[in-house]
Amino acid sequence: MPRRRFIKSVWVAIISISLIEISAVVIAFLTSGGRKARTLKETKLKVLGKVEDFASGSVTAFRSDRLYLVRLDDGGFLALSLHCTHLGCAITWNKDKNEFECPCHASSFNVNGVVNSPPAPRALDLYPLKIEGGLIKADHHNVIKRNKFNKSQLTYA
Ligand code: FES
Repeated sequence: MPRRRFIKSVWVAIISISLIEISAVVIAFLTSGGRKARTLKETKLKVLGKVEDFASGSVTAFRSDRLYLVRLDDGGFLALSLHCTHLGCAITWNKDKNEFECPCHASSFNVNGVVNSPPAPRALDLYPLKIEGGLIKADHHNVIKRNKFNKSQLTYA
């Protein structure tokens, strides 16, 4: 075999083996990522309580989970992040004023999490809720950013 042809064959073999190895690594990465994502998604749900534990028109703080569970007058639930959308300070619920207030720069939000007064640039973030077997479960690691409120954001029993 001429030298030039031999070198070409070696290069073709090296490139072929490299492509096979890269493909195997990519496939392994993609499939393991999917399993990991499913596992995390399944374990992220946090039980907040029974549906009947939360009266219509109530706001309940879950500070360790970084959220407020709001049950509107029509029975719909919202899980609002307790972090202000301005610079992330923890908001508090002012029952007398019926609004969330930020102690840092005085932003306020209505019960749906919509900005009443700036500098907060947008509505409070949401966490997905799921109601199963009468239990309210929040995915408090999966933040939904939004600009405004609409009824599709509510979760009903
Ligand atoms: Fe809330 Fe600035 S961090 S108003």
